[in-house]
Parts: sequence; C-alpha cells; structure tokens
Amino acid sequence: MNTLLAPNRVVQDDVRAVAEELQGTLAPLAGSTILITGGSGFLCSYFLEIIAWLNDIAWQSPCRVITADNLRSGVAERVAHLAGRPDFRFITHDVSQPFSIDERVEWIIHGAGIASPPFYRKYPLETIDVNVMGTRHILELAKRQNTRSVLYLSSRRPRPSEYPDRRRLPRLRFLHRAARVL
Ligand SMILES: NC(=O)c1ccc[n+]([C@@H]2O[C@H](COP(=O)([O-])OP(=O)(O)OC[C@H]3O[C@@H](n4cnc5c(N)ncnc54)[C@H](O)[C@@H]3O)[C@@H](O)[C@H]2O)c1
Repeated sequence: MNTLLAPNRVVQDDVRAVAEELQGTLAPLAGSTILITGGSGFLCSYFLEIIAWLNDIAWQSPCRVITADNLRSGVAERVAHLAGRPDFRFITHDVSQPFSIDERVEWIIHGAGIASPPFYRKYPLETIDVNVMGTRHILELAKRQNTRSVLYLSSRRPRPSEYPDRRRLPRLRFLHRAARVL
C-alpha cells in the first residue's frame, strides 16, 4: 500500500495509470540504483512518483533513486513527500559542475535543464551550461561507473531535419533550444 502518494489527485491518477501499464517494462529497475537529474522538475518528478509507486506496490526489491537538482527551476514541494524514504536520496547539486556518486549507479535519466522561457531568459549562461557541461559530466560519470544506460531528455528541436541549413540555428531568443543544437 502506497502511503506516500503525491498530494495532487490528478498526479496520483496519472502515476497509477502509467505505473500499472509500465511495470513490466520497468521491471529491470527493481533492485538497482538510478540517478535522476532534475528530479524536482515537471517531467522527472513523475519518474520519481512512478518508481515510488512500483517500489511500494509491485516490486519485492526496491529501486534505489538518487536525484541531483539545484532547484534552479524545480519545485522542492513537488517531491517533498518522498523525502525520508529509505529508497530515495536527494542531493542538491548543480550538474554543470563535476560530481561523483559514492554508490554504484546502474541507470541514469538526465532531465536537468532550464526549459522554460522565463527561466532561460533570466539564466542564459546556466541554460547553456546545464545542456552542454551538465551532459558532459553525466556521460563522464556514466563511463566511470560503467552505467548500463543513460536516457537524456532532449527535445525534437536538435533533429537535423529541424535545421536543414545548419548555418541557420535557432535564434538566441530560444536559448534552451539553441544550447541543445550545440
Ligand atoms: N516538459 C516537456 O514537455 C518536455 C518535452 C521534451 C523535452 N523536455 C526536456 O526535459 C527536461 C525537463 O523538462 P521539464 O519540463 O521537467 O523542466 P523543469 O524546468 O520542470 O525541470 C528541470 C529541472 O532541472 C533542474 N535543473 C536546472 N538546471 C540544473 C542544474 N544545473 N543542475 C541540477 N538541476 C538543474 C531544475 O531545478 C528542475 O527541477 C528539459 O531539459 C526539457 O527540455 C521537456
């Protein structure tokens, strides 16, 4: 029985529906450790909720979740109800800076980013840093740790078909997109 559901009823219903549908697909996560960057953000907070649900309801061996977020645009309250669980560890860290994890990480979801226009206009250099240096540090960590898989939450924007002429990159007004193309 999951006693630590997200406080929002709509999120609860979404999480239950997705977890039920994907529990077979996600079964390899059981008993392993995953690092999720940007865990307090919109998308990655759902990953946290879904894994918490599966740990409580479906899996004998829980998946251990480590999140790294500097709360630049994330909302700590979104995942506050998960704090204190033995299967979750929250690290406040800017992934644009090098970092290491003192435990073995089998999987990584790299979702840290500054994707919202009000934030990337306010933090233009940090927007580039997290996309470029953050991704580099995650890949270096994955290599050191011999991580099984890294999932990077990009967008459709960097696809070459979006920019047939590579000299016409997105204007700086769309900084997050531009940094992805880099
Ligand atoms: N939301 C969507 O529909 C969507 C679609 C496609 C791709 N994406 C990509 O997925 C990623 C997450 O999107 P989202 O909507 O959840 O955004 P979000 O802003 O809600 O979450 C991003 C998280 O990353 C954290 N973060 C930012 N810079 C950081 C840094 N330097 N170090 C550590 N943490 C940092 C923020 O605090 C926040 O919690 C983005 O990169 C976005 O481009 C989102």
